[in-house]
Amino acid sequence: MNKQTALIPNSMLNVRDQFPAIVGWHYLDSAATAQKPQTVIDAITKAYSRDYATVHRGVYERSAAMTDAYERSRAAAASLIGGKAHEVVFTRNATEAINLVARTLPKNGRNRVLLSHLEHHSNIVPWQLAGFEIDAVPLTQDGKIDLDAAAKMITEEHRVVAFAHVSNVLGSVLDAKRAAQIAHSKGAVLVLDGCQAVPRLPVDVAAIGADFYAFSAHKLYGPTGIGCLWGRAELLQSLPPWQGGGSMIEKVTFEETTFLDPPMRFEAGTPHIVGAVGLHAAVNWVEGLTLDAIHAHECALATEARATLSGIPGVTLYGPEDSAGIVSFNVDGVHPHDTATILDDAGVAVRAGHHCAQPLMRWLGVEATARASFAAHSDSSDIEALVRGIEQVKRVFA
Ligand SMILES: Cc1ncc(COP(=O)(O)O)c(C=O)c1O
Repeated sequence: MNKQTALIPNSMLNVRDQFPAIVGWHYLDSAATAQKPQTVIDAITKAYSRDYATVHRGVYERSAAMTDAYERSRAAAASLIGGKAHEVVFTRNATEAINLVARTLPKNGRNRVLLSHLEHHSNIVPWQLAGFEIDAVPLTQDGKIDLDAAAKMITEEHRVVAFAHVSNVLGSVLDAKRAAQIAHSKGAVLVLDGCQAVPRLPVDVAAIGADFYAFSAHKLYGPTGIGCLWGRAELLQSLPPWQGGGSMIEKVTFEETTFLDPPMRFEAGTPHIVGAVGLHAAVNWVEGLTLDAIHAHECALATEARATLSGIPGVTLYGPEDSAGIVSFNVDGVHPHDTATILDDAGVAVRAGHHCAQPLMRWLGVEATARASFAAHSDSSDIEALVRGIEQVKRVFA
């Protein structure tokens, strides 16, 4: 077997011990949702048990402190991806962030969006619901968005180019700077779905030249129920509100309402206050390790997993060699749900199914795949358990 062992950078040692919920378990489903380090759990507990109050409304001191914590989280999330605090809108998740752009971006007479065949449904359906016509960029042989094809396909009818920065199925990394150049060459805006990228690699929206960037806290070791939409300030300023209610208004009469500037214009109602505190703790946690180290670690694990799995007869791998920590595979003649069930018995959690990427499954010519996705806490013992489990799958279906 062609086996390599991932080198764990010093900063990544003892990371596993910080995750109380994975003791004795090989959790390889971080692309679905990340487990939480103790520091994030503690921050959430403290926010509810000691510091809790509403934000932006109370005149009492506790509320002012909570407002400050909420806004500091916004600044931290912005800085993590190279943006400014007033350019980050808190949403429920990445899905809501993409819906916000799709629903509010004026079409200016151009109603086409350029997507790719590897997009998550969250970056397809919102555009359909908002009345956009979709053109889908093909993939390269190894499963990356084919930007040469994108450059040929884009026209002045395209208002938007919207791509996943990292594929949730294949781990393929987009050349985001080039995607921005392609979008801008015809006056389109670039929307990046950064759900899988933000937890896995350093992101700099300014260096990329992106226009909008969406991600979810729960994939970044933070809580569910909160996500971020970053948008270039002048673009956000040009968008109308999309949900009405408290917190987003300047003045309300029965005749007319005027609205606050972004980001508050897009945050109607009481937000996920403690979610923001948890997100801040998660941002601090990944910044402590550094995203460079996390990226190197997960790339090494993906390389090790691919090398090992490719040595097992009857295992088919999907996606590029240089996956950013996500490895999809199938065992010949076995439905991935059966593979995942047997792996579960062996204490290994993988995802099986279409991964909310049905067009990609059609592109790969399969109904479903099994997917192992790594995180900062993963190590070679997870890969060894995965391999033992796959050998068991083969024995059961022999
Ligand atoms: C690439 C990608 N985009 C969007 C989403 C949607 O994320 P959420 O459900 O947190 O909105 C996911 C979640 O799996 C994803 O992997």
